[in-house]
Amino acid sequence: MDDRRAGTEDRHRRSTRDAYDRLAPVWSETTDAGPFNGFLERPALRSLVPRPLAGKTVLDAGCGSGAQCEWLAAQGAHPVGVDLSPAMVEEARLRCRGAGRFVVGDLADPLPVALSSLDGITCSLVLHYLEDWGATLRSFATALVPGGWVALSLDHPFGPPLPGQRGGYFDTTLVSDTWVKGGVEVTQQFWRRPLSSAIDAFADAGFVVERVAEPQPSAEAMALHPAALAPVVGVPWFIVYLLRRAP
Ligand SMILES: C[S@@+](CC[C@H](N)C(=O)[O-])C[C@H]1O[C@@H](n2cnc3c(N)ncnc32)[C@H](O)[C@@H]1O
Repeated sequence: MDDRRAGTEDRHRRSTRDAYDRLAPVWSETTDAGPFNGFLERPALRSLVPRPLAGKTVLDAGCGSGAQCEWLAAQGAHPVGVDLSPAMVEEARLRCRGAGRFVVGDLADPLPVALSSLDGITCSLVLHYLEDWGATLRSFATALVPGGWVALSLDHPFGPPLPGQRGGYFDTTLVSDTWVKGGVEVTQQFWRRPLSSAIDAFADAGFVVERVAEPQPSAEAMALHPAALAPVVGVPWFIVYLLRRAP
């Protein structure tokens, strides 16, 4: 990678980390029962996680404030949470009250675990912060036991374009979006890419796609969040993959 591109990536990584440090104190309260994470993406991802989980070691890559790790621990798994944002990692540690292990780390670097030490990996709405998935997915593959799995969610590649999005469907483009959560406003930048690019990256790292979920709001979610979820009905919003490390 040339110096200019490395510098741009460093700046992007820093601004992502700083934005999530600011969001950390309000992340659980604004997402756990929120329409998109709480009622759409997390149920879909959890529905694809292979059972039973008791006694399994599962890494949550980009663990945020620990919702997934808390759920994994409640299923009897031993969670390991990794996140770029130190403030998120601290929230996750507090939330899980002694269950699991938490590490500040960048998914662009090798995972901080031994080879073939994980039964599974969950990764909710994180990989789009990385332009190049090669090193990350190869590190996932080598950290998993043979036959290990990854449950991974992303914005749906066929979803509506974001305001100001340049380029067409087939371009891998950096897009930005502004959110206000619990009074904290951030502008995040992340990558959009076509479906073939995602599937190729999984295959290149030695994964096969075992299942795909394209969640739609449940009746309960529509009753609780009718205005927020109305634009999602009939529209691809999130995509969740269950990947299996090829033998
Ligand atoms: C949309 S949030 C999702 C958090 C959590 N998975 C959840 O579902 O609540 C994205 C998370 O990815 C983390 N993240 C972004 N880029 C990362 C990177 N390069 N390495 C590790 N974590 C990263 C952020 O700090 C943030 O906590």
